[in-house]
Amino acid sequence: MAISTALIVPPVFAETPEDLFEIHCAACHNSGGIGNPGLAPPLNRPVFWQALGSKAPEYLTGVVVSGLAGRLDIQGQMYIGLIMPPVASTTDEELIEIGNWVLQSLGETEEVLTQDLLDAARESQPSHANLRAMRPAVD
Ligand code: HEC
Repeated sequence: MAISTALIVPPVFAETPEDLFEIHCAACHNSGGIGNPGLAPPLNRPVFWQALGSKAPEYLTGVVVSGLAGRLDIQGQMYIGLIMPPVASTTDEELIEIGNWVLQSLGETEEVLTQDLLDAARESQPSHANLRAMRPAVD
């Protein structure tokens, strides 16, 4: 019996990390993470991600696991109306791909989000207050 080539051909609908961001994050954060003023902040802020430094993957993982609420002032806009819910619509693999795209392409860092960090955040369920305390005072 011939082995079906379908088994070794990559899936036709393979999505890039940017596609995954569009599906799971852009409804609020806008295409390319440029933000929706007054609704959800831009994520294409290298100064912010670089200021977080080695804490950037932990912060991002905490936000996608716990969500985030409370006032944020970013680039002259106030974000206070909407709570970010924990991200529940992705697989772990997809969430890691999205996270690394945010850290590396939008954040212009070399930081890496791993399954271990995701597991650790699920274990510790960081509070919104603790996440907010990690944020550097830069836009
Ligand atoms: C339902 C809307 C919604 C979706 C979907 C959403 N977010 Fe958010 N996100 C928000 C809101 C609103 C805030 C600001 C919360 C606040 O004001 O405290 C936020 C904040 C953030 C922050 C913190 C930014 C900062 O400056 O500290 C990060 C990081 C983030 N989101 C990443 C993501 C990623 C990655 C995804 C997709 C996996 C995603 N979000 C999906 C609404 C959303």
